[in-house]
Amino acid sequence: MSLEPGWYQEGKATFYIDNAFYRPQSQVGRDLAVLAAAVYKMNRGQLRVLDVMTGCGVRPLRYQLEADADWVWANEGNPELQELLAKNLSVGMRSRSYRITHQDANQIFFSCHQQRDFYDLVDVDCFGGAAPYLSTALWATKIGGLLYLTSTDTRTTGGHNPDHSLQIYGAYARAHPAVHEQGLRLLIGSLLQQAATKGMQVQPVFSIFNGQVHRVMVRLVMDQPWDSDQYGFLGYCHDCGHYQTVGWRQLGRALCPAADSTTAETEPRYMTRSGPMWLGPLHHVGTLRQMEMLAASWGWEKRVKLLKIMQAEADMPPYYYPLGEIGRHGKMDIPRRETLVQALRERNFRATLTHLDFQAIKTNATFAECVAIAQTCSQ
Ligand SMILES: C[S@@+](CC[C@H](N)C(=O)[O-])C[C@H]1O[C@@H](n2cnc3c(N)ncnc32)[C@H](O)[C@@H]1O
Ligand SMILES: [Zn+2]
Repeated sequence: MSLEPGWYQEGKATFYIDNAFYRPQSQVGRDLAVLAAAVYKMNRGQLRVLDVMTGCGVRPLRYQLEADADWVWANEGNPELQELLAKNLSVGMRSRSYRITHQDANQIFFSCHQQRDFYDLVDVDCFGGAAPYLSTALWATKIGGLLYLTSTDTRTTGGHNPDHSLQIYGAYARAHPAVHEQGLRLLIGSLLQQAATKGMQVQPVFSIFNGQVHRVMVRLVMDQPWDSDQYGFLGYCHDCGHYQTVGWRQLGRALCPAADSTTAETEPRYMTRSGPMWLGPLHHVGTLRQMEMLAASWGWEKRVKLLKIMQAEADMPPYYYPLGEIGRHGKMDIPRRETLVQALRERNFRATLTHLDFQAIKTNATFAECVAIAQTCSQ
C-alpha cells in the first residue's frame, strides 16, 4: 500500500511528522517497548499507557494498534504540536481511548499521584539525561507496572565528566572500554536507589543501547529484599584490562588482583572504580522469551535475533571485552568473534555475543584468560 505524500509509516502506525522530533533510528527502542507492552497486556489483561513526551504521537499509535492498549494518555510539552497530534491520533486510534495534553512531564506525574491514577506503562522519551524524571516518573507508575526511560547523555555515562555524573546519578562514572553497558547500569542503579527511598524496588525488563541512546524498561515492585551485591562498583585496571565487580565492603582494596600473576611486577597497579551502579541482570529472561515468541509470530526476524542475544547476555558479568582490546593486549590480530566465543566455551567458560557492541564479547573468563585463549585461536 502506498502512502499519501508527507505520511510516514512505522509498524502499524501511519503519521505526519511536520515539526515534531522523530528519529527513524530509534525504531528498535519503540519495537521492543511495543513487544513488552503487548506481553504485559496478554499477561495482565489490561494496558493503560502514559506517554509523557510523545512528539508526533508514534508511540500512542503503536501501543494501541500493536500492543492493544486500552487507554493512552499522550502528553507533549510543546503546544505547537497540538494540531499534528490531534490529526495523527484521530486517524489511527479508537475514539474515546486516548487523551492529548500539553503539560510539563513532572506536573503530570504529580497530578497522577495526587489523583491515585497509576499507569501500567509510563514512557519518558526525554532529551539528554533522564535524571529530572527518575524519581518523579515513579509517582505515576502502578506497582507491578512498567517504566521506560531514555538517556542520550553518553558523554557523562561514558566517564568523560565524572563530576556531572555524580551530580545527576549520584555515581562517579569513569572511562573504560565497556561504557555502553555502564550507561544502562547507571540509569538502572539510580532508578533503583530512588525507588528504594520510597520503599520500592525496580527490576530490569530489558535494557538497550542502539549506538547512540540508552533505554531501560523496568518493572516497579514492592516487598523485594534489598540486595547490596546488585548495587555496587565496577573495577577496571587500565594497565592489564582486568575487570571485576567491587562490593561496598571491598572499596579499600584498590590493587588489581591480576597484577600478581604478571611477570616481574614491582609497581602496584590500581583499579579505577566506577559507580555505584546496577550489577544484576540486564534483562528479565522470561519476559524476553515471551517478547521473542511474539516477535517471531509477527515476522520480526531482526528483533528475534536481537532478543536471542539479549537473553544470552542477561546474567553475564556487568562488562564486556571489545575485540580490539583483546588484540591490543595480546599483541595480535583481532580475533573472530564467533571463533573466540566457541574457544571459550570449549574451555568451560560461559561466553556470548552482546548487543551492546557487535565487536565485543561477554564471558566469565578473566581478561587475561580471554587474551590467552584468543592467542591460541590466532595460531
Ligand atoms: C525525544 S522527543 C520524543 C519523540 C517521540 N517519543 C518518538 O518516539 O518519536 C522528546 C519530546 O518531549 C518534549 N518535551 C521535552 N521536555 C518535556 C517536558 N519536560 N515535558 C513534556 N514534554 C517535553 C519535546 O517537545 C519533544 O517533542
Ligand atoms: Zn591489572
